Amino acid sequence: MKTLKVGLCGAGNVGGAVLRTLIQSSQLLEVQGGVHFDIVQVGARRGKEVVPYEGINITTNLEDVATNPDVDVLVEVIGGVNFAYELVTTALKEGKHVVTANKALIASHGNELFTLAKENNVEIGFEASVAGGTPVIKALREGLVATKVKWFAGILNGTSNFILTEMESNQSTFESALEKAQELGLAESDPSLDINGTDAAQKASILAALAFHVPFDFSLVSFEGIEEIELEDLGYAKELGYSIKHIAHGELENNVVCVSAYPTLVDNETLLSQVGKEMNALEIFSEGIGSTVYYGPGAGPEPTASAVIADLVDIAKGGWDLDINSDDQNKLEVSDRKRAARYYRLQVNDEPGVIAKISSLFGDQNISIEALIQHEAKSKENLESISVVIISGEISNNEAVKLKNALEDLPEVFSGVKKFRIHAGEK
Ligand SMILES: NC(=O)c1ccc[n+]([C@@H]2O[C@H](COP(=O)([O-])OP(=O)(O)OC[C@H]3O[C@@H](n4cnc5c(N)ncnc54)[C@H](OP(=O)(O)O)[C@@H]3O)[C@@H](O)[C@H]2O)c1
Repeated sequence: MKTLKVGLCGAGNVGGAVLRTLIQSSQLLEVQGGVHFDIVQVGARRGKEVVPYEGINITTNLEDVATNPDVDVLVEVIGGVNFAYELVTTALKEGKHVVTANKALIASHGNELFTLAKENNVEIGFEASVAGGTPVIKALREGLVATKVKWFAGILNGTSNFILTEMESNQSTFESALEKAQELGLAESDPSLDINGTDAAQKASILAALAFHVPFDFSLVSFEGIEEIELEDLGYAKELGYSIKHIAHGELENNVVCVSAYPTLVDNETLLSQVGKEMNALEIFSEGIGSTVYYGPGAGPEPTASAVIADLVDIAKGGWDLDINSDDQNKLEVSDRKRAARYYRLQVNDEPGVIAKISSLFGDQNISIEALIQHEAKSKENLESISVVIISGEISNNEAVKLKNALEDLPEVFSGVKKFRIHAGEK
């Protein structure tokens, strides 16, 4: 049986679960994975306090692990970018494989790290960096290797999805849904990277590199978070047959790759619309086979540790090398070119001719109106205003922004027009 000598850096939520699983499930891993894991050293700056196991070599200086000659593979689960980058580059230069759960590290330094790994003839496993315990990286690398991926669309941030589900199912406000997520340990005390879309956008850039063989380039991912979504929008979406989800999207068309992560209306007939609470899901559409969908827990110590250990087993069995930018015909571009239908919600003065004026503005910009809903004001304070919701035909991001600005310039339209994408699905 193969033995892999592991050095673990970080003993927090994920690191603790990796250690626990390697110790408690060693027999299962030998039977199912065919690998014996030897935990050579654990780097934890609080030492024994966070590593309550006998007979483990603990260091409070994490660099010791990256340079330890007995370590075959360094598991990086400290998070953050700068120190993680230092540890990982040191380990790679020392000829060690690396397994990381760190999407921010891969999204920002992936090209350099994979080049370094290749030069040193070692592997980097990063299954846990996207969708936690759901093996989407493996699906792209292995299961779909014989297909040409056209697009993917995924719910990749559990915190955002939990908040949207709470708002939709219980009519909670954004603030109280976020508070509940924090109480349940599903959101960090500073949840900004989750709710402003950064986390999902980083994951989308990692998936795009794998799906379309382009370099990692987070700077070309356009994204927005879920902060703008109000209960009213969820209500109108429902009336129109949609749910609102935060969707990470990547698409290849005419050798151009566009990657984005936006609040998006998703048809209630689709599987993605059914993904609730903190769960993750990814739909991958490939030429020839159509859609495959992967669903499961996107975070949590145990699911994430499961993905980390799956990478360790793969590495013990020879691994795979990732050839960055292996299809140099495909080019990554900012997602401004992506065409999608849009949802607009406007608050307008309730006076004759307003709808005609709005319709002609759409006409002037050569944009079709696919659906329009108009409701009376709900509150007594707002008697003279009405809500209007319009679904446009397919337009680019630039056209969508231009249209929003033009609508807000109309004297009858209140500022703060809401605008969300609509996911077209199969093509
Ligand atoms: N939690 C999840 O569900 C999940 C899911 C997928 C991916 N991930 C990724 O997994 C990684 C770890 O997440 P986590 O939830 O386990 O975080 P965590 O609970 O905060 O654990 C991080 C650990 O790293 C240590 N650490 C952080 N910075 C350090 C530094 N500069 N020097 C030395 N030690 C340092 C911390 O030490 P102290 O305890 O002393 O602060 C802590 O033990 C992150 O990249 C995260 O994005 C997490």
